[in-house]
Amino acid sequence: MSHARLQQPPSKQVDRLAHPRAALDVESVRDAYRRWAGVYDGVFGGVSGAGRKRAVAMANKLPGTRVLEVGVGTGLALPLYHPQKRVVGIDLSRDMLRHARERVESRGLRNVVGLVEMDAEAMAFEDDSFDIAVAMFTATVVPDARRLYREMRRVVRPGGELLFVNHFAAEGGLRWWAERTLAPLSRVLGWHPDFALTDLLDDPRQAVEITECPPFGLFTLVRVPNLALA
Ligand SMILES: C[S@@+](CC[C@H](N)C(=O)[O-])C[C@H]1O[C@@H](n2cnc3c(N)ncnc32)[C@H](O)[C@@H]1O
Repeated sequence: MSHARLQQPPSKQVDRLAHPRAALDVESVRDAYRRWAGVYDGVFGGVSGAGRKRAVAMANKLPGTRVLEVGVGTGLALPLYHPQKRVVGIDLSRDMLRHARERVESRGLRNVVGLVEMDAEAMAFEDDSFDIAVAMFTATVVPDARRLYREMRRVVRPGGELLFVNHFAAEGGLRWWAERTLAPLSRVLGWHPDFALTDLLDDPRQAVEITECPPFGLFTLVRVPNLALA
């Protein structure tokens, strides 16, 4: 897939000004995922499963054992990590984390070394604490995706890797129309339907790998090497 396909053309950016998305904040995210927590796996687990598998398969192949999963949710991906990867998961929602802890316990996942309630936009970890950071279906949800990205870069060592799986907005057609129409409902949905790659990365050329994932290319896996900050 080309980088260009994931960027919003200027006409769509102007259009977004005319149809502003509702801002998410920490409390609206917590509220949304308090409601989602009990049904999340049943409603969303299946459709997002392929993207999750591909992202973790990529993380498992990358060098380094220290993995941070940002917005770990109910921990659907945790059983997929190679046992040698030492995984820390963080999330804003204690309701989602409760399910993740139950999963770790019931599956005996000894390589999951921490599940912590923490804001991904202001992490308590020191610089260079991880080799790999993975954010699956989370960048569309956090109040400020650029801050998320900056924090992920800070806590991953230079030369490490950042992986994102997300739904990125279409550039036209019925899906673009539906996403634009849903954008003002972000606070109720708990995510931004009209989220573009440029909402996450200052420069989409920072991504070295962009792969569409099933179903129907609805989700995209993005790999960004953590180059040393200039
Ligand atoms: C759509 S769920 C994805 C969960 C999981 N990654 C998965 O693959 O199923 C998004 C998660 O991001 C969490 N989240 C949103 N904003 C956050 C933030 N600022 N810091 C940490 N977690 C956040 C939500 O609480 C929710 O659990």
